[in-house]
Amino acid sequence: MRVLITGGGGFIGIRLANVLAQGGHTIVLVDRAFSDTAIRLAPRGAERRLADITDRAAVWAAIEATRPDGIVHLAAVLSGISEIDPPLAFDINVIGTFNVLEGARKFGVKRVVATSSIAAVEMPADSPPADEDVPLAPLGFYGMTKATGEAWCGYYRRRFNLDTRVARPGAVVGPGREAGSATSNFTTAIIAEPLAGRRYVCNVREDDSSPLVYHTDLVDGLARLFLAESVSSPIYNLGACSATAAALARAVRARIPTADIAFEPDDVARFVVGQWRYIVQDNRRAERDFGYRPRFDTPEKLVAEFIRESQAALVGAR
Ligand SMILES: NC(=O)c1ccc[n+]([C@@H]2O[C@H](COP(=O)([O-])OP(=O)(O)OC[C@H]3O[C@@H](n4cnc5c(N)ncnc54)[C@H](O)[C@@H]3O)[C@@H](O)[C@H]2O)c1
Repeated sequence: MRVLITGGGGFIGIRLANVLAQGGHTIVLVDRAFSDTAIRLAPRGAERRLADITDRAAVWAAIEATRPDGIVHLAAVLSGISEIDPPLAFDINVIGTFNVLEGARKFGVKRVVATSSIAAVEMPADSPPADEDVPLAPLGFYGMTKATGEAWCGYYRRRFNLDTRVARPGAVVGPGREAGSATSNFTTAIIAEPLAGRRYVCNVREDDSSPLVYHTDLVDGLARLFLAESVSSPIYNLGACSATAAALARAVRARIPTADIAFEPDDVARFVVGQWRYIVQDNRRAERDFGYRPRFDTPEKLVAEFIRESQAALVGAR
């Protein structure tokens, strides 16, 4: 298949592009900029196109010129920036999603996978594991944009029979992720910083937590969701486990005894992820429908894999 990936120069986009390219699919990456790292990591033969997702004409021109069989829509700004710059987040996450969906409809693209986030789901109190049918109640601006995107995907499915498929990932953990703009990046930085021998001051409370997913598991889930012949649900959770910051710190200290981790919560970070402690994602629908089974489904396995992957990369770089 020919696959157009928006946000194709981003953390998930490049990794997903490689997995799909290995499966023989033709890749078109669309982003507003490609870093040197993105260019280096992009699969050989992938087409790179510059387009701002808020520029309707440019997005439609990219779709018209490349005529993809399907689109994976990842372009977005994440929670940290969304809370600081709501107009930007609205334009990119909401209008950008509309531009992609309408472009897909206009040019006869059959399938669109879009990434929402567990941030679209907030739990005011302890509750059973959240499946895809729990009512959306986002607290932060980012979650608002993601809930809106889900609703627009639902509209295009209902009205035009466009095969829209929404993924709801947990916070993504993986080497390189700590530099991103998600407030949930503490879940990666709490491993990466001690691993680099640096002190880490965590900006949430020890009992704040997050639903987590290791990047390789998420990319596997997205590829499966995209490639499935058909799906029975418009939305799929793609998570692995939930952990408090304290549990992550414990798992890190067990492997890096010298780890120096302190907690100095700040208000914005606590506002954005503070309610997440109540969410445990139920991923059974994705397992049933397309065989999604995250390999790293405990904080301990996740930390161990992070360290293994980071050290393997260092050896590879020598
Ligand atoms: N990282 C997480 O923890 C997480 C969790 C849940 C969902 N998601 C979602 O997954 C998707 C991919 O996230 P990621 O982790 O790869 O983030 P990322 O920031 O690494 O990638 C996003 C990409 O979108 C691009 N982009 C931003 N604004 C753009 C614009 N105006 N026009 C064109 N491109 C633009 C960026 O340049 C970047 O390459 C996003 O939709 C995100 O909301 C991420």
